[in-house]
Amino acid sequence: GKKIAVMTSGGDSPGMSGAVRAVVRQTLASGCISFAVYEGYQGLVDGGDMIKKMAWEDVRGWLSEGGTLIGTARCKAFMERPGRLTAANNMIEKGIDALVICGGDGSLTGADKFRAEWPGLMDELVQKGLRKEEEVRAHRHLNIVGLVGSIDNDLSGTDATIGCYSSLERICQAIDYIDATALSHQRAFVIEVMGRHCGWLALMAGVSCGADFIFIPENPPSENWEDDMCNVVKKHREMGKRKTIIIVAEGAHDRQLNHISPNQVKDLLSDRVGLDTRVTTLGHVQRGGPPSAYDRMLATLQGVEAVKAVLDSTPETESPVICIVENKIVRKPLVDAIAKTKEVAAMIERKDFAGAMKGRDAEFEE
Ligand code: F6P
Repeated sequence: GKKIAVMTSGGDSPGMSGAVRAVVRQTLASGCISFAVYEGYQGLVDGGDMIKKMAWEDVRGWLSEGGTLIGTARCKAFMERPGRLTAANNMIEKGIDALVICGGDGSLTGADKFRAEWPGLMDELVQKGLRKEEEVRAHRHLNIVGLVGSIDNDLSGTDATIGCYSSLERICQAIDYIDATALSHQRAFVIEVMGRHCGWLALMAGVSCGADFIFIPENPPSENWEDDMCNVVKKHREMGKRKTIIIVAEGAHDRQLNHISPNQVKDLLSDRVGLDTRVTTLGHVQRGGPPSAYDRMLATLQGVEAVKAVLDSTPETESPVICIVENKIVRKPLVDAIAKTKEVAAMIERKDFAGAMKGRDAEFEE
């Protein structure tokens, strides 16, 4: 049977282990041989025991586990061609020419580059006498399928990344806990949430927790945001609200792209509104804990689809990324999804904020 490897890469997210479980079991159920690459790209470069054959029971119980149980890493060696040559050699040694990768846009970009380079790597292995011509003959084409695992929900073309809803849930829970002190002392809290350059977590947490004000990178506040925010907070207080919750995305900035820090917001609330204010940075709590039911479902359905995509592929097929669009699991060209994601970042850089807001959710030509 075909040999299909699964790997997680980049920052961990809740549901990644469930995705690995789904890929392993769908691979076995399809009569193929399953491998897991441990510690991300580092495991591909190191080879040996880091590329482990998987059995049905090896992933038992993984659906409800946080993080990734096969490990992940940022790997310098894989960024250089010699590292990728070693990785290819390790894969051929095991007869693997299909790789399902669960990670963020950086990890998936690396994967597609690897695929494009693969035929050249095969030639080089033969030229250098590392592999015999007949060993590589059956593996002239590398099959890559992407699964998007990240708490940030920052990939264009999919409505949800594996992990984002668990993280949102954790953030809401944390803010609910903070409410006790906020309400008791009539305090203000400035809460910094993750998301890197993406404001999805901050925006959704703001809606879900009834925040007074939020700061996200895609839609920076007006030039007079300091007055605006203070006025909104004062108004809510005048209406009888005993607490103030301001959510700041870690990537927040003003319209001139100057970073907006939680401490800056705290000083305004203290000095200009006269509120007893604290800053809470939620940090990696947002990335941990058991995945939500949604992420378990998403990881399972997408993991199954990833294996089907591997089995459907021909040398002509573009590498797909498995997405969810309006509740349907769909395949899209990986390069397009990444290009679209990079485009949003570029829009923010050139201060096209209207474009960035639209671009996060925009559909693109299939
Ligand atoms: O991409 C996930 C994420 O948690 C981001 O929200 C955050 O900016 C980053 O990773 C933190 O990275 P690290 O865990 O390497 O500090």
